[in-house]
Order: sequence, then structure tokens, then C-alpha cells
Amino acid sequence: MHPLVNIAVAAARSAGNLIMRSQERVEQLQVERKTRNDFVTQIDRAAEHEIISQIHKAYPNHAILAEESGQQGDDEVVWIIDPLDGTTNFLHRFPHFAVSIGIQVRGRMEHGVIYAPSTQDLYCASRGAGATLNNRKLRVSNCKDMDQALIGTGVPLNADRLDTYLPMMRNVVAQTSGVRRAGAASLDLAYVAAGRLDGFWELGLKPWDIAAGIVLVQEAGGVISEIYGGDDVLKTGHIMAANAKLHPLLQKCVTGEE
Ligand code: IPD
Ligand code: CA
Ligand code: CA
Repeated sequence: MHPLVNIAVAAARSAGNLIMRSQERVEQLQVERKTRNDFVTQIDRAAEHEIISQIHKAYPNHAILAEESGQQGDDEVVWIIDPLDGTTNFLHRFPHFAVSIGIQVRGRMEHGVIYAPSTQDLYCASRGAGATLNNRKLRVSNCKDMDQALIGTGVPLNADRLDTYLPMMRNVVAQTSGVRRAGAASLDLAYVAAGRLDGFWELGLKPWDIAAGIVLVQEAGGVISEIYGGDDVLKTGHIMAANAKLHPLLQKCVTGEE
């Protein structure tokens, strides 16, 4: 395993353990609302603090882009961190949430680690070295037909964006064998890498939601793009992921070209 990935795995496991210990007292947590349906707790912050201290112990000069504390430092290596992806699920004891850590080197995503503490599933990927789930090699599905595809998505938190999103959802429901909204974008991407989902799309995600998942999908043989075809998906967050055969079909379907 690459030394940076070793640190990411250790940090993700520590944060995951902290999250699981606090699940029992979820009712006592102070929940702040960033917006109507975007929550943050002291657990998100404590998990993030734990991850950043482990990174900085090993690599004091590396830069950080983290959901709760923002940007720190300026370096060619940037750690992109979502300490708890799926906070709403966590707050409801819906056991589908993850710690997501992506590592960008000189502007390119190189490594991704996603850890789902409820199942202890650990997803890792490094550019050129493949993607794994609990040390077993991952491969995207080989589904070629939209009518057999199971597709993941995220419903926008922002009501204005729903007007763009709902026609997309209508098209995908009409053309596939099912749509899932599981509530943790990093895991949605990990599921595409693992072939559990045949594809995924969501509008307006943040870099920490997708950084690690991008490497996982690509290293499992899948394709990542912007929904509308641009190539800066980390910037816009309008993401689409699928195997190479399905990707163009999903893109046409979502954008209503077909
Ligand atoms: C959210 C989850 C969700 C996605 C939202 C994200 P959070 O992250 O990934 O699936 O639909 O857009 O904000 O707030 O739980 O870290
Ligand atoms: Ca997130
Ligand atoms: Ca989060």
C-alpha cells in the first residue's frame, strides 16, 4: 500500500471508531443546521479533527481541504476530507455513512480511501494500482442495458435545484430497473466501483463528497464525467459515474437527449 494511503486508512478507521462510539448517544448530540436539511454535529468536527491531526503528524506540510474546517496550507499534496458523509443517516441510526479521504497531488486525484464504519468496509484506490474492498480487487459492473441497470442518485438539498433534477429522475425511473437514494455520495461512488450500482449521478456535490470516490470508480474500470460533459467535475460537482458501456446511455437519459 502507498504510504499516503496507509495514513489515510489509519485516520479513516480512527474517525470511524469515534463515529461508532457516539452512535449510542446520538439523541444527546447538539445538531446544528447549516441549511434546512444540511446538518452538522460535534461528531463531524471531532472526526475531522482526528483525521487532520493524524495527517499532520505524518506530513506537517501537506495542505487540507476539509468540509468542516475548510482550506489549510498550500502544498502540492492536498488531502480532501469528508469526516462523516451521510450525517442525516447517522442522526437517524440509518447505518449508511462513511469517512471519505481523497489525496490530490499536483492537481490530480491520486488516492482515495472510503471507510464505512457500520459494516467495517474499507475501500481503497491508488492511480495505476487498482481499487479494492477489504483487500479484494474491485471491478465495475458489466451491465450494458439501461433497462437492467440499478442507478444511484442524490436528491438536491437545495429546492431551487429540484426543477433541474426532477425531469432527470423521471427519465431515469422510466428507463432503468431502479433508482436508489442511499444518502452518502462517497458510498454511492464506492458502490459503482464495486459493481453494486451500475451508475450514479448527482448535481452540485462538494469536492469532499466525491474526491476519493472518483479514484475508486476510475481504478475499478469505470468512467467519471460531469453530467453535461465538461471535465472539471471536482469544481462543479455535477457528477456522473458508470461503466464505460453504460455511461453514454446514462448521460443521454439524464440530460433528456433520448
Ligand atoms: C451529503 C451526502 C448526500 C448528498 C449531499 C451531501 P453530508 O453529505 O453525501 O448523499 O446527497 O449532497 O451533502 O452532508 O452528509 O456530508
Ligand atoms: Ca458529504
Ligand atoms: Ca459530511
